[in-house]
Amino acid sequence: MSSRIGSKIRRLKNRMRNASNIFSRLYSRTFHRTSTSAIDNADIDLSRVGNVSVEAIGSSDMESNNVTEMSDLEIRDQYEEWTREYAQRNLKWVEDGVAHEKYVMDEKIDVWHIATEMFIFPALRQLLDDTFPNRTFVNGVEIGCGTVTFFDHVTIENPILVDLAPDYCSFMASRGWNVLNENIENLSIDSDSQDVVVCSETLNVVLSLDAALEEVERILKPDGIFLVNVPWEFTLSEYDGMLGSHLREFNEDNIEEKFSRWDILAREVIPQTVKPNGIPTINLILARSHVSSSN
Ligand SMILES: C[S@@+](CC[C@H](N)C(=O)[O-])C[C@H]1O[C@@H](n2cnc3c(N)ncnc32)[C@H](O)[C@@H]1O
Repeated sequence: MSSRIGSKIRRLKNRMRNASNIFSRLYSRTFHRTSTSAIDNADIDLSRVGNVSVEAIGSSDMESNNVTEMSDLEIRDQYEEWTREYAQRNLKWVEDGVAHEKYVMDEKIDVWHIATEMFIFPALRQLLDDTFPNRTFVNGVEIGCGTVTFFDHVTIENPILVDLAPDYCSFMASRGWNVLNENIENLSIDSDSQDVVVCSETLNVVLSLDAALEEVERILKPDGIFLVNVPWEFTLSEYDGMLGSHLREFNEDNIEEKFSRWDILAREVIPQTVKPNGIPTINLILARSHVSSSN
């Protein structure tokens, strides 16, 4: 009984926080929000969400035994809230100079997404050079940037960064980037306008993979390329029921289906062993399939 009351109070608090967030976003720089599509492609049952505190995520005291039933709408509200809380927690660690301790990684790097910066982006740059030697870009968007961007690793004239978490947006804006606080499912970017779109470790956490990929397809020029990093052959069992964390698996059996409207031009697995405390991931270079098939 008391846990049901507790869960109701938590939901009420979340709603109040969401209402105040929506209000502040309406008056902030660039947040656009219209209707969103249904939740799809999640490999876990999102309607049964484990009640895990943000502090516990990634630590040994993680518990997910207190399961809450949620509607699609509640999941979407909760998702934004969790994404925001994650960002605030991670940026606090960056601010306190302890991010490297949490990550068990390089103390010289003053960002949260340390493994991406140290291992994934250099490997992606190499893969890009091997596939398209000397390619430079005019317009590009990186979606779900968090605290790092691949645009630090390539030449590009008009880079835009996008993230759902307002605090990551402020962090990257303070470093001089042009940033949009938007949802990958609903971007304010013109159709057929981008030479490159980058999504690192983001397609595994978005609620709707279909909606995300459709939007990327919309903004990419017909000859543009899509650079992706996702967890690879990594099982979700230890994350089951946690919103804002890994929601789907990518592996040899499903990769073609997940990117069925895309051609995989190049791919490279980054094994877990490369990154201390990391998970295996894959770098992919993709093109819209009707384009490369007509070449
Ligand atoms: C796991 S982090 C990856 C950060 C960084 N790109 C990297 O590779 O390390 C996922 C990022 O995606 C953002 N994100 C999650 N859902 C999103 C959405 N629907 N639209 C835009 N960004 C989203 C999160 O705020 C977070 O910064």
